[in-house]
Amino acid sequence: MLGCGVVGQGVLRTIATRRESLARRLGAPIEVRRVVARDPDKERGEHAPRELLSFDPETVLGDPEIDVVVEVMGGLDPAGAHVVRAIEAGKSVVTANKFLLAERGSELFELAEARGVDLAFEAAVCGGIPVIRVLREALVSDNVVALRGIVNGTSNYILSRMYDEKIDFSVALRGAQDAGYAEADPTLDVNGGDALHKLTILASLAFGTRVLPSQIHQEGIEHVAAIDMQMAARFGYVIKLLAIARALPNGALDLRVHPALVPDDSVIASISGALNAIYIEGESLGPLMISGYGAGSMPTAMSVVSDIVDVGRNLMMGSRGRVTHRSLAAREVRDPGH
Ligand code: NDP
Ligand code: HSE
Repeated sequence: MLGCGVVGQGVLRTIATRRESLARRLGAPIEVRRVVARDPDKERGEHAPRELLSFDPETVLGDPEIDVVVEVMGGLDPAGAHVVRAIEAGKSVVTANKFLLAERGSELFELAEARGVDLAFEAAVCGGIPVIRVLREALVSDNVVALRGIVNGTSNYILSRMYDEKIDFSVALRGAQDAGYAEADPTLDVNGGDALHKLTILASLAFGTRVLPSQIHQEGIEHVAAIDMQMAARFGYVIKLLAIARALPNGALDLRVHPALVPDDSVIASISGALNAIYIEGESLGPLMISGYGAGSMPTAMSVVSDIVDVGRNLMMGSRGRVTHRSLAAREVRDPGH
């Protein structure tokens, strides 16, 4: 595993405390061989003993006995170089890194496909909510016409606390950082960048076409003030940071991330704190709404470990390369239905 912070420690805890049920479900135990971090002085809890830790990524990437690399380091560099190196070495990769996938997903998915390994990423979008599986598997036979929701826990936590408790933006942000919801650099949480990265991935899967981050309109919550919330409340609205994607009649996609007024008696207005919610509209299915924790150590770790089990099953069946998605690869695979 590369990284042993909020998510990494949750992954170690999940594997340690559910060792037997995971082994039963996978058909083999998950053995954590090595965990790479940066700071040798940091305390990382009972599930990350000193002998497991390393400060040299080569101890993972260069070990031929390691089958699966879990990237929970975050950021573009050096995480991107490590993921490339792992795939080239024939290892399957599980990542929670939406920034990396939004920026370099097409290259990485193509590489994984060419090398015949898995690149799994459930935790990269909305932490513990299995929205990638819903889009990739359950809705693969439908035509998604719209998708929208709250996909960043930190900004939703900040807006909720500003609204409910009338506390300052900076105090609320600190709360999100202390709870482990915010990115290492929270700029992306508050300026809409993190939501944009997630929408890039969601829209690519939902509409079966490659979406680039530069094609999405981006506005964050940094300019939302207490007075905006008060005025919104006076007219019966709540302010939420929404990510929106919809198919237009001319075949184009409308893609946006921005704060929006939502009616205070709507379901989306009731999604508070680090909860996320995604509304998907399928041509055949009609409306579907899923909600749950979009950030935080254990919900996100659950998604990471489920991906480990998934790629582990593929390894054992000799069918690696299944957990990729063609619409995220560079090739244009536009669905003729759109
Ligand atoms: P943290 O900052 O808590 O952890 C990052 C870890 O990576 C730390 O252990 C850090 O080492 C290590 N690391 C960072 N850079 C390097 C480097 N150059 N060399 C070696 N180790 C390095 O982040 P999170 O756990 O919160 O997030 C990890 C990933 O998961 C990110 O991509 C994030 O976007 C994603 N994610 C996070 C969620 C959350 O709720 N927190 C939810 C969903 C996805 P050290 O500890 O020594 O500093
Ligand atoms: N910083 C992210 C958030 C983590 O607050 O939603 C989950 O991707």
